[in-house]
Amino acid sequence: MTLANVITLVKPDDWHVHLRDGDMLRMALPWSARVFGRAIVMPNLDPPVTTAARAAAYRDRIRRVLPGGSGFEPLMTCFLTDETEPKDIAQGFAEGIVMAVKMYPARSTTNAAAGVTDVRRVSRVLERMQAIGMPLLIHGEVADPETDVFDREKAFIDRVLVQLRADFPALRIVLEHITTAQAVDYVQDAAGPIGATITAHHLMINRNAMFAGGIRPHMYCLPVAKREGHRLALRKAATSGDPRFFLGTDSAPHLVQDKESACGCAGVFTAPVALELYAQVFEEERALDRLEAFASLNGARFYGLPPNTETVTLEQSPWQPPELLPVGEADHVRVFCPEGKARWRLLEPAA
Ligand code: DOR
Ligand code: ZN
Repeated sequence: MTLANVITLVKPDDWHVHLRDGDMLRMALPWSARVFGRAIVMPNLDPPVTTAARAAAYRDRIRRVLPGGSGFEPLMTCFLTDETEPKDIAQGFAEGIVMAVKMYPARSTTNAAAGVTDVRRVSRVLERMQAIGMPLLIHGEVADPETDVFDREKAFIDRVLVQLRADFPALRIVLEHITTAQAVDYVQDAAGPIGATITAHHLMINRNAMFAGGIRPHMYCLPVAKREGHRLALRKAATSGDPRFFLGTDSAPHLVQDKESACGCAGVFTAPVALELYAQVFEEERALDRLEAFASLNGARFYGLPPNTETVTLEQSPWQPPELLPVGEADHVRVFCPEGKARWRLLEPAA
């Protein structure tokens, strides 16, 4: 249903989120569970979730922290390393423990030191995944320090992804958190099973946001936000109705002290306001009628899952999201909301 100022959608899913562990998990999880039916949970813990057994243990820790009565379903991933055993992840997939495998090029981002050093080293794993229809989720940036930070996504497509897809044409791939017009074009035009997630923050900010009047660590994430033209291409793709594009927040909480540092961590925490920000973007693009496909249908279809059966309702009514959320005793996480206020509000289901 879409009235001018109220929209009801099939309950959305988050196809890319960082829930963390311990105190951070206790803080972050209720925000995702509040609005999303399911989420693909990233495995870049320290140490990373590299095996099906570790994924099962992590899923248990998440379930133990879930608010009572929540139907939220964590969908687990394994972190691909040069040592990953095809048999282990295939068995995890068959048993419904591991939904997908995440590939981080080694040292490309937070806790990715153990990532893949060369895709040729993981070809046995990719072969098996292709055979069983298990999706590969890709952090699509080269980590090579010689390559300009703003060119790393395009360089990954040109130097790695094109060849990888030629070698494994039936492998199901999600190019995660795309940030460039080149990635949009590549995913739109590619033959075969490929999709891409798009974050709310990459739809809202360009790279100027990191330098507005001074250095803004809370606008820093990876892949880093690009020029305005790229942001506009992402907005067009997300709101196009093309089923290859779907919602993945990449909500990635870090303590304020770790962000506001001489070497600040990459990641922005959008979970408390993500769906509301996506709604704002779709409204600005006059595409509210396509929000449901992007947020609630396209991703489920890619993963071969039915859409959720519940609905959520958003109302156009400005509100002030929390700015800082406590984690443990000593520190906080800052919530991403570039305009301070959110224009759309989630209506809590009637009790
Ligand atoms: O900004 C990011 N934060 N990008 C990533 O790829 C990882 C994430 C995190 O885990 O903090
Ligand atoms: Zn991520």
